[in-house]
Amino acid sequence: MATDRLHASGRSRGAGRPDRRDPRGLPGRRAPRARGVVDDVPPDAPLVELEIGPVAHGGHCVARYEGRVVFVRHTAPGERVRARLTQAGDGASLWRADAVEILEPSPDRVPSAWPAAGPDGVGGGELAHLSLAAQRRWKSFVVAEQLRRLAHDDRAVEVVALPGDDDRGGLRWRTRIDLVVDDDGRAGMRGHRSHRIRALDSMPLAVEAIETLDLFARRWPVGARIEAVAPVGGDAPVVLVDGLLWDLARHRPASGSQVRTAVHERVAAAGRQYEYRVTADGFWQVHRAAPTTLVEAVLDGLTGLDLDGATVVDLYSGAGLFSSPLADAVGPAGQVVAVEGDERAVHDARRNAHLRHNVSLLHGDVSHVLGDPGADSSLVHADAIVLDPPRTGAGRKIVAQVCAVRPDRVVYVACDPAALARDVAYFAEDGYRLDRLSAFDLFPMTHHVESVAVLDRVR
Ligand SMILES: C[S@@+](CC[C@H](N)C(=O)[O-])C[C@H]1O[C@@H](n2cnc3c(N)ncnc32)[C@H](O)[C@@H]1O
Repeated sequence: MATDRLHASGRSRGAGRPDRRDPRGLPGRRAPRARGVVDDVPPDAPLVELEIGPVAHGGHCVARYEGRVVFVRHTAPGERVRARLTQAGDGASLWRADAVEILEPSPDRVPSAWPAAGPDGVGGGELAHLSLAAQRRWKSFVVAEQLRRLAHDDRAVEVVALPGDDDRGGLRWRTRIDLVVDDDGRAGMRGHRSHRIRALDSMPLAVEAIETLDLFARRWPVGARIEAVAPVGGDAPVVLVDGLLWDLARHRPASGSQVRTAVHERVAAAGRQYEYRVTADGFWQVHRAAPTTLVEAVLDGLTGLDLDGATVVDLYSGAGLFSSPLADAVGPAGQVVAVEGDERAVHDARRNAHLRHNVSLLHGDVSHVLGDPGADSSLVHADAIVLDPPRTGAGRKIVAQVCAVRPDRVVYVACDPAALARDVAYFAEDGYRLDRLSAFDLFPMTHHVESVAVLDRVR
């Protein structure tokens, strides 16, 4: 068979800068330059016919071609497809392909909800060719498989929809989008594992408030990064261009744009209303219903403990999404100790918790704070620890540090099922058993999934 070695080429302006808003590297956000990035798959790249096997973690299915494993996107188990090899050759550690013609479709296949994210399109919508029910089955399989393989845990997992998603067809949920501007000044996104920008006409995952900003009809400074943020709760959306506030009416930088822009997010959870100030390009959960869903899942994960007067540690606390509801849960006699590494997020969290005398905010690396006996005396008395690390998960060292505190309960919020399953295995070694696990479809049309794991100390 003919094989092409496919090369990375021209790096776009700004590529590789650290992502300042979403350390999870979720779709639609600029990711650090990855090894094996393919900028332009030549249109004459080899086409091969493949029988598609099971789903694998990462948004693709597994097929075999001439004895090799090929990861195939834009397909489904059981399909027969003609696929373009996007990474191949004797030197490639694994082969990748994109299904461009469906010879035998899966019953789960539907007309794509976002064709621009199909083969050779933008990243961030790789499951848009499947029904929402099938997308959730896909993710349920992945979470369960990672737990089985890495944590030897055989439980069934059901990924559940967030309120409103079925009514909206899995669209219009993103309150934040990142765009990049091509050489013609058009806003678009990069392709999967590619630096080439594909201009877009719309972004159907974005909430209506962003869609009405008409970002795609405008011309923008070439190479710029555009961030649109539509806070939940009534505030007007804001647009940042290369981090600076943009005046959409005049289509130029806003006066005073050097000042750091913040938005206010309102979250209804557990019968209360919470308001958060969040730096516009700082971390915030992207799905409009995610803050409520996750706060309630975290509080639910603490049920069974006597929380009144308890000490709860909130690791990777961001702007304090969980800190205020946790402070209410432990009451005035209790204590919440929040730890966050990003200075701007800590600044937001200070404002968000400034009237709460039972919240201490520690700025620093989680590992350093947990390893510093003088950081906060409450840390060592924690009854429960909540952690919500970035995509890479907590890892061996942090798990050991958390277990050394000996909390009765750990509630672990995770956006990567593989990192979570690895860490669940580490927790088991250190005397913590996985009790409950909930999984949420926080990112419809993508392969991403959020889990909330509840672990109990057993020795
Ligand atoms: C997934 S976010 C969760 C934030 C918050 N729990 C929320 O839901 O809004 C992870 C947070 O961890 C912070 N972070 C990442 N690595 C860290 C580290 N080593 N030490 C402290 N904070 C870290 C990031 O700045 C980010 O705010």
